Amino acid sequence: MKSNGYVEFFRQTSPYIHAHRGKTFVIAFGGDAVLHGNFHSTVHDIALLQSLGIRVVLVHGARPQTEQRIALSGLESEFSHGLRVTHSHAIQCVKEAVGATRLQIESELSMGLPNSPMHGAAIRVIGGNFITAKPVGVRDGIDFQRTGEVRRVDGVAIDSQLQQGSLVLISPIGFSPTGEAFNLSYQDLASQVAVALNAEKLILINQARGVVRDNSLVRALSLPELESIRQASTDDAEQQMLGAAYQACGNGVDRVHLVSCAEDGSLLTELFTRDGSGTLVMKDHSEVIRPATIDDVGGIIELIAPLEEQQVLVKRSRELLETEISRFMLVVHPEGVLLGCAALYPTADNHVGELACVATHPEFHDQGIATRLFDTIVQDAKKKGLTQLFVLTTQTAHWFLERGFVEAQVADLPAQKQSLYNYQRNSRIFSKAI
Ligand SMILES: CC(C)(COP(=O)(O)OP(=O)(O)OC[C@H]1O[C@@H](n2cnc3c(N)ncnc32)[C@H](O)[C@@H]1OP(=O)(O)O)[C@@H](O)C(=O)NCCC(=O)NCCS
Repeated sequence: MKSNGYVEFFRQTSPYIHAHRGKTFVIAFGGDAVLHGNFHSTVHDIALLQSLGIRVVLVHGARPQTEQRIALSGLESEFSHGLRVTHSHAIQCVKEAVGATRLQIESELSMGLPNSPMHGAAIRVIGGNFITAKPVGVRDGIDFQRTGEVRRVDGVAIDSQLQQGSLVLISPIGFSPTGEAFNLSYQDLASQVAVALNAEKLILINQARGVVRDNSLVRALSLPELESIRQASTDDAEQQMLGAAYQACGNGVDRVHLVSCAEDGSLLTELFTRDGSGTLVMKDHSEVIRPATIDDVGGIIELIAPLEEQQVLVKRSRELLETEISRFMLVVHPEGVLLGCAALYPTADNHVGELACVATHPEFHDQGIATRLFDTIVQDAKKKGLTQLFVLTTQTAHWFLERGFVEAQVADLPAQKQSLYNYQRNSRIFSKAI
């Protein structure tokens, strides 16, 4: 990548870096992902998330590792309802497989040789008896024996470890109050941990890229769409993944991401680019148009500062923005990234308002963002009793002409605005009856 391309890419990720900092992500992957050749890179990417201030909880599985030990012991694996039937002799294989897999993950997270991507990461990995389990019991006449379900997640204990900057690694074994160990489904476990922590995201890393239908990746799914796909699915692994996603999203986790363990960089692409790499599940996957609050000032400055430098927009100081923040309307991406802004200023003439500071994040141009924002501002202006809008612009005349504005003169502006008109800037004036 040329240095310019690199700098540009890095800048484009900045809204996502701000949006994710301090948030809790529960990331789950199966034992097959640990065995995959790409696992080193996945761990480096997870370490990077931690370094960017994301509170990371990892939940792992160990199915192929358990299979291997069961086969070596001369036993046979038995599955029903998509779950392993864990006989009392098989639980020993589960414990060994989970223990060895956990150690492998911990060792990967401990690497830090100079000139390696993990150099300086110094990740503190913490585990503990955070999960209380109960037996699945007998279903359709089948006794699942030491296969368990989550009974309780000690969210307070996990949270306190996250607050201290640790990465929490949770293995798919839970203990009953009688002290017995139970084999848990890692996806169900991850989903319940995410709900207990009120996590911003649950990320399920799988062999698949996400949900693929008719040979193409489904980029986003609402909860009802997810459920209908799950019901129609004939693939056990996919059903389990979608079931965990449904459970988490239906119980307060805002976003569930389904990404691939096989594609290099898929986790980072999913979290730090507009298009992502996998499937995003959310209750409602549409952007939000809302009035700005004082907390948005930083985001607005970041959006408009480059345009001010290019003199496309008039310079506004932070203090001025803070004073005028109630004039601003924003379009916000489901991830919390600010996509666009516009402001409506009243004038001394009660029926005339000034539209100003219309800007869309460069990565999101030509998607109708400014148009939707403009439509919302017009509705808002009408409610406030305004009958006319005007705008001053140096470079965007045609955008306004195409939205019904007509060219006007300085003399057409409200008197107070005429006296402030900057003849040096020589903006063109457009007005529109609403
Ligand atoms: C002008 C701006 C707000 C448009 O944002 P956007 O979200 O991309 O706009 P929309 O998606 O709603 O509209 C896109 C359409 O406007 C056109 N367009 C974009 N900028 C334009 C410009 N300067 N002049 C004329 N048309 C323009 C696009 O070509 C596209 O046309 P199409 O639908 O025929 O392909 C954005 O380009 C921007 O931030 N510009 C810099 C700030 C600015 O000039 N603000 C106005 C002064 S207050």
